[in-house]
Amino acid sequence: MDRLEKLLSQMSVHDKIGQLTQYNAMLFTETSAEITGPQQKLGLTDEDLAAVGSVLNFSSVQEVKDIQTAHLQNDPNQIPIVFMMDVIHGYRTVYPIPLALGCSFDPQIAEECSRVAAREASADGVHVTFTPMVDYVRDARWGRVMETCGEEPRLTSALAAAQIRGFHGDGMEKPGNLATCVKHYAGYGGAEAGRDYNLVEVSERELREYYLPAYKACLDAGAPMVMPSFNSLNGVPSIANSMLMQDILRKEWGFDGVVISDYNAIGELLPHGVAADQKEAAKLAFENTCDIEMCSSGYFHHLESLINEGVFTMEQLDAAVMRVLKFKDQLGLFDDPYHGADEKLASSLFLCDAHREVVKKAAAESAVLLKNEGLLPLSEKLSKVAVIGPFADEHGINGFWSAHGKNEETTTVFEGIRNILGADKVVTAKGCGNLWDDKDCSGFAEAVEMAKAADAVVLCLGEPQNYSGEGNCRTDLRLPGLQEALAKQVIAANPNTAVVLFNGRPLDVSLLDKIAPAILTMWFPGTEGGSAAAELLFGKCNPCGKLSMSFPHNVGQCPIYYNHPNTGRPRWRSQPDHRGYASDYIDCATLPLYSFGHGLSYSNFVYSDLTLSSKTLTSDGSIRVSVKVRNDSSVPGKEVVQLYMRDLVGSVVRPVQQLIAFEKLSFEAGEEKTVTFTVTEEMLRFWNMKGEHISEKGDFTLMIGHADHFVLSDAFQLV
Ligand code: GLC
Repeated sequence: MDRLEKLLSQMSVHDKIGQLTQYNAMLFTETSAEITGPQQKLGLTDEDLAAVGSVLNFSSVQEVKDIQTAHLQNDPNQIPIVFMMDVIHGYRTVYPIPLALGCSFDPQIAEECSRVAAREASADGVHVTFTPMVDYVRDARWGRVMETCGEEPRLTSALAAAQIRGFHGDGMEKPGNLATCVKHYAGYGGAEAGRDYNLVEVSERELREYYLPAYKACLDAGAPMVMPSFNSLNGVPSIANSMLMQDILRKEWGFDGVVISDYNAIGELLPHGVAADQKEAAKLAFENTCDIEMCSSGYFHHLESLINEGVFTMEQLDAAVMRVLKFKDQLGLFDDPYHGADEKLASSLFLCDAHREVVKKAAAESAVLLKNEGLLPLSEKLSKVAVIGPFADEHGINGFWSAHGKNEETTTVFEGIRNILGADKVVTAKGCGNLWDDKDCSGFAEAVEMAKAADAVVLCLGEPQNYSGEGNCRTDLRLPGLQEALAKQVIAANPNTAVVLFNGRPLDVSLLDKIAPAILTMWFPGTEGGSAAAELLFGKCNPCGKLSMSFPHNVGQCPIYYNHPNTGRPRWRSQPDHRGYASDYIDCATLPLYSFGHGLSYSNFVYSDLTLSSKTLTSDGSIRVSVKVRNDSSVPGKEVVQLYMRDLVGSVVRPVQQLIAFEKLSFEAGEEKTVTFTVTEEMLRFWNMKGEHISEKGDFTLMIGHADHFVLSDAFQLV
């Protein structure tokens, strides 16, 4: 009998159930903050708390050590507690939100950023991070789009796998590395009307085509844990959804790792209306192989009686407990319950120069230059630059889910520009607030006068960082408050105005697109966001980000996404004299304002000579697709070469464009490179009406450029 089997044989049923629970650290420490919400209703005994196997949301490495030490002093089984936290885009040194990271189209950068977070978090006592979040999204109203890598499953899969490599490092059992947890399985990003926690109704075909691939990619990349989502999927909440949890996750995908509920998600089966009481909720979750109950108490209160009543067997309980014990063993916790936590090391890593450099590079490469009519880059010879707007000198640019990141530790745009030009050449004014109810325009006059007197203006606008993230959904995507009015007056006062956006989602910037000569979105860029923005504005960095999510003209277009099928009617641009039963709008264009894959550069990349090695592809063959890319400028830069395809005829409607490959390359001034992709039959597969993942013979088009805007195309046949 191996060590874990022996351990299991010594455990009481109560001990075993304790391993299937997770609660906030505040329940275990005297210095707990106010215990609110589900915590008060948990009704846990001291014996229960002594048996708890996992803890989340702790505040310091000392707290972790105190809880672990106290636990092990009292636990006859000597089973260490596993500590978990949401380390989503940085721990103390914060990098861009994942939606921004998606715009880097750079798995290497995503991996480097995860390494930074892993080193800091691991030294500070974290064993597991609840990331990557890979929910497929199409609706910018949803607050949690900021946590995803956007609307393209392949891009999300590539970046999520890179994050997992980064967090796991050279082994999750080693200090400096974390285990990961892929979430939120499944379909959470499809919440109806973009309202968080709302129902998700999607066909199994659509689910498999768009929503499931990234979760599977994470499991293939070695993620050892899965977190089901809060939402009901086709009528049943994920955690109780046998198709998701048993048929697909456990049987079809063969996942035998740990499943952990989302926060009180088991308890929420009651308000969902699929469980009449806590016992039924516990039964539904356990029978759908949820191993750890997070922050609700159904397992403690009812699992033993469900076993005594014969609803479950002791073998089923042992199987769940063994998955948890194996996970802890995989983390090396039985050998080192503290997983190398070291307060001094943690402090030396927080905000260190090396980590700052990584996150600054990530911020620069995740930013997207949406528009530029020659104003950018600005010259360092300018004698007066006015940095205006609610985000001009705003430190709140880490974004939601920034763990232990501190706003006051970020660099602002004003500070970044001052560092480049010198204090005597830069002035700043807020102009107005950035909240919805900020209706005070008393700062306009100062801002306008400052703009008039400046050689150039950097106008920093956006939505507050808590207007996106969990529970923060919007029905209006415009800039909150009087920011549009401020923009009109400032740009009228000085046309040399570059707008810098701070946003957790695609915003409705259709007005800015009309009046501003340049628009750069930084998303929420993290600790070095201001310095990265300044270096981009003055050309010390060349923008290379490409949109990971479409920008609508306005919220009425949501959901809007690039990989949509055609219709039976044309999708004319909606102009009144062209109206005629088209699939468009009478009051808005049909295409997004800025499409997926869009992003400008200070270089000028010219594509030519798209060449296919063959015009026919067999199921066991491949086609080499090459294209020449030339940097027709004097500015070195990076370009994301994007290859799309269209399946012209299928047994189901097929998207008018699908990204099937991308490659990010650096170019010197005037340099030309030939980029080669390999297209295989497997890349053409889709889910048909029979639930098969297949390709179908016929005609295909390959396109180079970005969604809705291709510069080269060619055709081939799958035979
Ligand atoms: C939250 C989120 C989930 C997070 C968990 C623990 O409600 O939905 O993403 O990992 O609770 O904080």
